[in-house]
Amino acid sequence: MIVAIDGPAGSGKSSTARAVAERLGFQHLDSGALYRALTLAALSASIPEERWESFKAGDVAGLGVTAEFRDGALCTLRDGRAIEDEALRADEITACVSAMARVPAVRKWLLSRQRDLARDADVVVDGRDIGTVVFPEADLKVYLDARPEVRAERRLLQRGEPASAGRQVRREAARLQARDRTDAGRAIAPLRRAPDAVLLDTSDLTFEEQVDAIVALARAALGNGPGEAPS
Ligand code: CDP
Repeated sequence: MIVAIDGPAGSGKSSTARAVAERLGFQHLDSGALYRALTLAALSASIPEERWESFKAGDVAGLGVTAEFRDGALCTLRDGRAIEDEALRADEITACVSAMARVPAVRKWLLSRQRDLARDADVVVDGRDIGTVVFPEADLKVYLDARPEVRAERRLLQRGEPASAGRQVRREAARLQARDRTDAGRAIAPLRRAPDAVLLDTSDLTFEEQVDAIVALARAALGNGPGEAPS
């Protein structure tokens, strides 16, 4: 069973998907972590960004990135060693992950990896192209969105930075929107809402409310589906 959650940067997909997966007893496949892991591996191997665009399948595989589920969450590994979440979310990775994500060989390679990971598992998958390209047959598709300033405030709070200063919020909102433009404007698997995805604007919802809403939609979509995971 597959629950697909797509949406722009900072819409809260990953944290929401993690909580929904926990409630349903599913695995959480954070697809953005895969793009981030490839970006980190390329930067660590000192492969300049200008060369990413011409990557072939062998170059992508040669970065040594793998992934597996551990305790319900996706663990990315480089040369067999787990990559820390903090390293994946570092600013220098965030700044150039969209450049990695528009490389055709990267998307093709990750398409297979994501489908392999979901083959024998019930999953909640979050990303940009999950309902449109990776799992068009998902049992439930949700498109999460929120106003840019709200997304920016959440990002700043998440990083422990003051989210009350207007200038900082505007700067972060501009950064998020620039990434959205790259993600929505690329030729392959651009960010967009699948026609059959439920749109959930979380601007005025609490975190618990948005998780509850998706769990309820998932239960309805999955019929009598899974009950609460034992805690
Ligand atoms: O958490 P945040 O929204 O900041 O980003 P993320 O989900 O970690 O994804 C990082 C980047 O990976 C995005 O900006 C996209 O460029 C790319 N990505 C993608 O192209 N397709 C996906 N299914 C997931 C992520």
